[in-house]
Amino acid sequence: MWAFCIGALLIITITHWLYRWRNPRCNGKLPPGSMGLPLLGETLQFFTPNTSSDIPPFIKKRMQRYGPIFRTSLVGRPVVISTDSDLNYFIFQQEGHMFQSWYPDTFTEIFGRQNVGSLHGFMYRYLKNMVLNLFGPESLRKMLPEVEQVACRKLQRWSSQDTVELKEATASMIFDLTAKKLISYDQDNSSENLRENFVAFIQGLISFPLDIPGTAYHKCLQGRKRAIKMLKNMLQERRENPRKHRTDFYDYVLEELQKETTILTEAIALDLMFVLLFASFETTSLALTLAVKFLSDCPLVLKKLTEEHETILKNRQKADSGLTWQEYKSMTYTFQFINETVRLANIVPGIFRKALTDVHFKGYNIPAGWAVMVCPPAVHLDPAKYEDPLAFNPSRWTGMETNTASKHFMAFGGGMRFCVGTDFTKVQMAVFLHCLVTKYRWQPIKGGNIVRTPGLQFPNGFYVQITKKDVTHESS
Ligand code: HEM
Ligand SMILES: *[C@@H]1O[C@H](CO)[C@@H](O)[C@H](O)[C@H]1NC(C)=O
Ligand SMILES: *[C@@H]1O[C@H](CO)[C@@H](O)[C@H](O)[C@H]1NC(C)=O
Ligand SMILES: *[C@@H]1O[C@H](CO)[C@@H](O)[C@H](O)[C@H]1NC(C)=O
Repeated sequence: MWAFCIGALLIITITHWLYRWRNPRCNGKLPPGSMGLPLLGETLQFFTPNTSSDIPPFIKKRMQRYGPIFRTSLVGRPVVISTDSDLNYFIFQQEGHMFQSWYPDTFTEIFGRQNVGSLHGFMYRYLKNMVLNLFGPESLRKMLPEVEQVACRKLQRWSSQDTVELKEATASMIFDLTAKKLISYDQDNSSENLRENFVAFIQGLISFPLDIPGTAYHKCLQGRKRAIKMLKNMLQERRENPRKHRTDFYDYVLEELQKETTILTEAIALDLMFVLLFASFETTSLALTLAVKFLSDCPLVLKKLTEEHETILKNRQKADSGLTWQEYKSMTYTFQFINETVRLANIVPGIFRKALTDVHFKGYNIPAGWAVMVCPPAVHLDPAKYEDPLAFNPSRWTGMETNTASKHFMAFGGGMRFCVGTDFTKVQMAVFLHCLVTKYRWQPIKGGNIVRTPGLQFPNGFYVQITKKDVTHESS
């Protein structure tokens, strides 16, 4: 009898729980959609790899079935996915009010609890100013000659090799530069390899959060531990041997930490350093690799881009004097090319927020506490906004600057949390492309195929052979 009662109770509880799972509580009308399997939700479908560059099939199917706003469940959380540009805009504008930055627990674990993405309010503005100080226009202007030197030196080296794998090579180029700016880290002088700890990170990031030896998630966390330890040792070393002048971000951090009124702690500083190192090389190297792939596939675009950069050289007094800020600013077509590359790259497939209160929008109610995912690919590949959206056509950006492009372009996010590395990325890409197209030609050898899970990946890399251009006709 007891067993029967307990059994019945259990069944009722589970049924009730399942019912609640499928029909979450809501003061109003939930967006349509399915919550998938209990606990797992639709996580597996969401992460299913696909080779298409179109809107991820997971999103596209649901847009067709439910419309632009729908609900699902990912990594154990109820989520509303928005492909609606008005709602996206609203979400970005309401940062800190109705919505707040939120990322799945795997992200928080890996990037540290104190990372920029999960800090709010005052602390956040304070950190953002520190970062902007480092990657703002004034610093970038000073950094330009260095970026050019590094790019030229690397290209020179790669052209002496049989082939070079571009994803890895550009990642190391950008990592070295960022690490130098942040912590004066120099791979050649260091006994330990800092970047090694960041490798295979993307896989761990979007993996199932199971922290046992052998899993991608475990490797990722171990990498983080080692990297943080190295960063910590370096900070300690700097403390013991202070420098006279501020030369990098670490000196700046140390100065801040010594102030009596500071709100900065060492843990926050280390997490910040870690996030910046990771955010800079992984994203930009994907964009650069894809950029070279697009150039290989579109000879007309390559021709036009090369012309723009050769004109810069031609208009100079001395052809080998370095790039000036003015020249950089004059690269109109290059900036269109970069916009078009990141539009199609969709490096960030989802931008996450949490609803702080019940939010009513277009007849739907997003319950407080739910996650919201803004889906940039759905906007960037919308045929109503970009004609023939899958075509690579940098010239489509001509005249787009003036109208409300920002509502339809969110590769770098939007609103208050807009990517602080945007200008840095553009400098990196433009300067690299400048060196590449003026001095070298290249031939794809193998790889170059992409997979989205749904984040962009080059599973077989992209191998090219780079050769020096014959430039005698120019100097004559
Ligand atoms: C192609 C290159 C890049 C892309 C596509 C990209 C994309 C993004 C996006 C979409 C966001 C918004 C995230 C959100 O709203 O939750 C973001 C934020 C951020 N990005 Fe980037 N990013 C790139 C390069 C960089 C670089 C080079 C750095 C570092 C120097 C960087 C540092 C950051 C940081 C610190 C944030 C957080 C800002 C905040 O929460 O206010 N990013 N990025
Ligand atoms: C990608 O998704 C499309 C649409 O769902 C599907 O038809 C195709 O088979 C998928 N391709 C791969 C390689 O996964
Ligand atoms: C690395 O070594 C070179 C040559 O020994 C030196 O010029 C450079 O300043 C060193 N870099 C750092 C960060 O110590
Ligand atoms: C690239 O996109 C941004 C954001 O919409 C826009 O402000 C900028 O003017 C665009 N650049 C070009 C060259 O079209």
